[in-house]
Amino acid sequence: MSTRKILIGGGTGFIGRRLGELLSKNGYDVKNVARMPATNNISWSILEASGLPKNTCAVVNCAGQQFMDFTKAWSPGFKQNVQNSRVYTTKALAKAINKAQDKPKVYVVVTGVGAYEPSDSRRYDEGSSTTGSDFFSKLVIEWEKAAQVDPPVRLVIIRSGAVIGRSGGMIKNMFIPFYFGLGGRIGSGEQFLPWIHLDDLTRLIHFAIENDHVKGVLNGVAPQVITNKDFTKSFAKALKRPALFPVPETILNFLFNPERAMIMTKGQHVIPKRVQDYGFEYKYSNIDEACKEVAHLFPKKHPLE
Ligand SMILES: NC(=O)c1ccc[n+]([C@@H]2O[C@H](COP(=O)([O-])OP(=O)(O)OC[C@H]3O[C@@H](n4cnc5c(N)ncnc54)[C@H](OP(=O)(O)O)[C@@H]3O)[C@@H](O)[C@H]2O)c1
Repeated sequence: MSTRKILIGGGTGFIGRRLGELLSKNGYDVKNVARMPATNNISWSILEASGLPKNTCAVVNCAGQQFMDFTKAWSPGFKQNVQNSRVYTTKALAKAINKAQDKPKVYVVVTGVGAYEPSDSRRYDEGSSTTGSDFFSKLVIEWEKAAQVDPPVRLVIIRSGAVIGRSGGMIKNMFIPFYFGLGGRIGSGEQFLPWIHLDDLTRLIHFAIENDHVKGVLNGVAPQVITNKDFTKSFAKALKRPALFPVPETILNFLFNPERAMIMTKGQHVIPKRVQDYGFEYKYSNIDEACKEVAHLFPKKHPLE
């Protein structure tokens, strides 16, 4: 059907790629907005000049320069890139939606739980306020502001926790040390670690696209609240390895800059209240199950493929 076209900003990345596979399997015609040309890609400048492709029924943004790319120093220039790659892409898609004659029905933007100030004692759901007190919470506030689109287009903002998937994010960064039995908790390990399995995040985006009553902010996290210590135990158990080597917070602060290291050394207690009120069903609501699914050295053929 010609009306089932979906445009994904950053559709070439870890989340975007799996989302594209899921949506294609469900009969959508998926196009990406990306910096490099490819058959299924349009560029950001084409988007700006020519607007949304005809018959686009939904737009999703999953673009953003990885801030945990440890080959890049936490310099003012890199921080600017982290910021612009999220705010500008989100705004470019919102502008194209607002200018379109034939409007899509929904705009979904994947942001992060970094919107909530890290805390050991506060409990956050989607109704909690965001303070904008640190680099990441300030960034998310600006990022989400850039997403505003005119009604009747529905806006859904998914504040994602750390995404558990074999080929990207936290698991990709930690796999090798854990695989060789050199893993361990970070700092005290008591910091909360909001998480979601990649399949559930992409299923939640699909759910938001297809259900016309879904709008506003959703916390893209599993209902099970865990700490870094809980994750460490689960992941090591899934790999059948010990996890005896804690990484001191001071070392991470020294290596990566405290402002960036806080992503690992601090956390938030986040509940997906609205997601559950909407009746979304998780495939992985337990961290042991999620870790089992990613505990393999070589890429597995995914059930979607
Ligand atoms: N992974 C997680 O655990 C996690 C958790 C919470 C939130 N998120 C958010 O979800 C989004 C996607 O994450 P991901 O893990 O899929 O990241 P990823 O694998 O690094 O993919 C990000 C995509 O963004 C595009 N991109 C990178 N730098 C860009 C730039 N300077 N300008 C324009 N586009 C750029 C890239 O597309 P091209 O190279 O094709 O242009 C890339 O495909 C990010 O905004 C991230 O902050 C991720």
